[in-house]
Amino acid sequence: MPSADASEPVTVPDFARWKSESRKIAVLTAYDYTMARLFDAAKVDCLLVGDSLGTVVQGRPTTLRVTLDQLLYHAELVARGARRAFVVADLPFGSYQESPRQAVASSVRFLKETDCQAVKLEGGVRMAETIRAVVAADIPVMGHVGLTPQSVRRLGGFKVERDADAVLADARAVADAGAFALVLECVPSDVAARVTNELKIPTIGIGAGPHCDGQVLVSYDMLGLFDEFRPKFVRRYAEFAALARDAAARFALDVRNGAFPNDQETFR
Ligand code: KIV
Repeated sequence: MPSADASEPVTVPDFARWKSESRKIAVLTAYDYTMARLFDAAKVDCLLVGDSLGTVVQGRPTTLRVTLDQLLYHAELVARGARRAFVVADLPFGSYQESPRQAVASSVRFLKETDCQAVKLEGGVRMAETIRAVVAADIPVMGHVGLTPQSVRRLGGFKVERDADAVLADARAVADAGAFALVLECVPSDVAARVTNELKIPTIGIGAGPHCDGQVLVSYDMLGLFDEFRPKFVRRYAEFAALARDAAARFALDVRNGAFPNDQETFR
């Protein structure tokens, strides 16, 4: 019986196998132990400790100020909550752009200081050498091309890459460099289909249409927990923001009215 479908922990070879079997891969971001436990129990295949935590957890407009130490902290919490799911940690901005050597050093910290199994980094052709170096250090790498949020300052905004040839070249470079999977963010559906057909490694789409080998969503978006902004491609599977506001309002009212706690809700 193939490991990951028998509740055994997911491993790197499962990703290639799933692609060869046309078995779609479900990925969600996670930032803490409790969420990781819930998603793991729900049989989500892979948990990404994304630097999106800069936006949905820290409330910043970009991911740029997330630090390596912060991501290490969150990766540790998520890995503790995951039994079956494969845990990938984002390399944050500034932790790998300087040199392949810096990328290896940052990646090693994730495998030494947390129980996560792989790292993700943004960039295609220009990061190929870096990906090669991290893979050569025996650290699995998930690539990320298309819209790369860490490039926001250079591009002057969260710009979508519309040049199909550029996306293809980036995707090929990441695969050739040895990545085991590739995130395609905000790539037109037909381009994502071409990349998916051509590459031997699985593509994980976000806003990239239905033809990718897997899909990833930011969990706070998917749960309807982060409701300040809703990207067009997000499907909300719950409305937790409304539930949380309502629950907190009822709690506050009960406290003010003296309705909470009652005698049974008191320590004895
Ligand atoms: O940081 C993140 O959550 C990501 C996903 C959106 C792919 O990179």
